[in-house]
Amino acid sequence: MRSSINFLRLQITSMALIILSISASAQITEVKTLPSFECLVSYAKLQGIKDINTPVLNEDIKYDSTMPECTTARQNLISRVRTEIRSRINEVEILPRYSNCIYEKLTGTESFVHSVIKAAIFEHFDENNNSINRTISSILKEINNSIQICRQEDEVGNEFDTIFNSTFDGTRNLTKHEEYCIKKYLIKNNLIDIYTYDIDPNPHNINVTGLNCEEMIRKSNEEVYDQLSTVYFQKPNLSNDEKVECAVEKFREADYFDLVMKINALSTLNITSEQKIIERENFIQIFSNITSKIATC
Ligand SMILES: *[C@@H]1O[C@H](CO)[C@@H](O)[C@H](O)[C@H]1NC(C)=O
Ligand SMILES: *[C@@H]1O[C@H](CO)[C@@H](O)[C@H](O)[C@H]1NC(C)=O
Ligand SMILES: *[C@@H]1O[C@H](CO)[C@@H](O)[C@H](O)[C@H]1NC(C)=O
Ligand SMILES: *[C@@H]1O[C@H](CO)[C@@H](O)[C@H](O)[C@H]1NC(C)=O
Ligand SMILES: *[C@@H]1O[C@H](CO)[C@@H](O)[C@H](O)[C@H]1NC(C)=O
Ligand SMILES: *[C@@H]1O[C@H](CO)[C@@H](O)[C@H](O)[C@H]1NC(C)=O
Ligand SMILES: *[C@@H]1O[C@H](CO)[C@@H](O)[C@H](O)[C@H]1NC(C)=O
Ligand SMILES: *[C@@H]1O[C@H](CO)[C@@H](O)[C@H](O)[C@H]1NC(C)=O
Ligand SMILES: *[C@@H]1O[C@H](CO)[C@@H](O)[C@H](O)[C@H]1NC(C)=O
Repeated sequence: MRSSINFLRLQITSMALIILSISASAQITEVKTLPSFECLVSYAKLQGIKDINTPVLNEDIKYDSTMPECTTARQNLISRVRTEIRSRINEVEILPRYSNCIYEKLTGTESFVHSVIKAAIFEHFDENNNSINRTISSILKEINNSIQICRQEDEVGNEFDTIFNSTFDGTRNLTKHEEYCIKKYLIKNNLIDIYTYDIDPNPHNINVTGLNCEEMIRKSNEEVYDQLSTVYFQKPNLSNDEKVECAVEKFREADYFDLVMKINALSTLNITSEQKIIERENFIQIFSNITSKIATC
């Protein structure tokens, strides 16, 4: 059974290739620029692209998908699909500030590339199947989801900026003593990369004799999580103690306090804008991980 299907598919394949070479001389640009079947399949095998609903991946295709002609053809295909999605995004009425983010979410992933490669392979079997166009449509169905994610990331990014702008708990600035204790805490617990960041715990040469940093850190820790409780208590769908406690627990598990301390310390250093962007992205990542865990509360 299996081998006969296999055989049938192979026949279809070689027929499709013949049809392709004929239509290439006609003016169907879309088909003309499709990478060759060997290119797609050997690439799919190399990348371990799964769920291709055909036995083709078991075939012994002797082709090197890293050859320039294959690489270029693939890049052209991917970029044509990206262009199409880009223009569809621009048709949707959304805040322009999210459109790049949405574009990245929809087309910036490995799984996007894999789904286009898969669709192109199917199109070799049957160009009337129109699988590339249908793949584009199904990617665009994710647009509302992406808008939501991009909006949330934007909010979380603002949160980072607020913390970075030297506020300790959102209401007051750090004192020199607090800054000292935070830096000591981060260095002691290995929470900051002292090779990337030139961090001096006491740049202002303040008198730290008798300073009780542990007590200060303990209180700050409480403050940060208390604040989170307050924030979550205000959210209607979490307005019961158990859920709030569960949500705050997710922040604790992720050592959110340490993260806030790190941002506070970084804000006192002369860090480059590139480093700031990296730290901001990292914060957004961790925050979205926490948020997805809170969804189970
Ligand atoms: C198009 O091809 C894919 C893969 O072979 C198949 O799953 C799908 O059912 C086909 N769709 C149509 C409309 O033929
Ligand atoms: C795919 O969609 C585009 C835009 O909607 C359309 O111009 C093109 O004709 C479609 N291709 C096929 C093969 O149907
Ligand atoms: C996205 O949401 C809008 C408004 O909520 C809705 O009209 C549209 O159909 C949705 N689009 C998709 C692809 O789900
Ligand atoms: C943080 O400070 C920067 C630069 O001073 C400013 O552009 C930005 O609006 C501030 N952001 C917040 C959330 O306070
Ligand atoms: C924090 O410090 C900045 C500049 O040093 C000052 O403009 C701002 O008012 C201070 N904020 C608070 C809440 O004290
Ligand atoms: C630092 O502070 C301590 C306690 O407040 C004090 O005893 C000491 O003299 C101070 N040292 C200097 C150099 O000011
Ligand atoms: C911060 O670093 C930049 C580049 O490394 C340098 O040009 C600038 O003078 C520094 N600013 C301060 C306040 O140290
Ligand atoms: C977010 O969660 C994923 C999956 O659990 C994990 O692989 C990733 O390292 C996490 N990212 C951060 C920045 O914690
Ligand atoms: C609470 O509801 C808001 C809006 O309905 C939603 O965006 C948010 O994800 C919900 N939070 C949780 C933890 O379910």
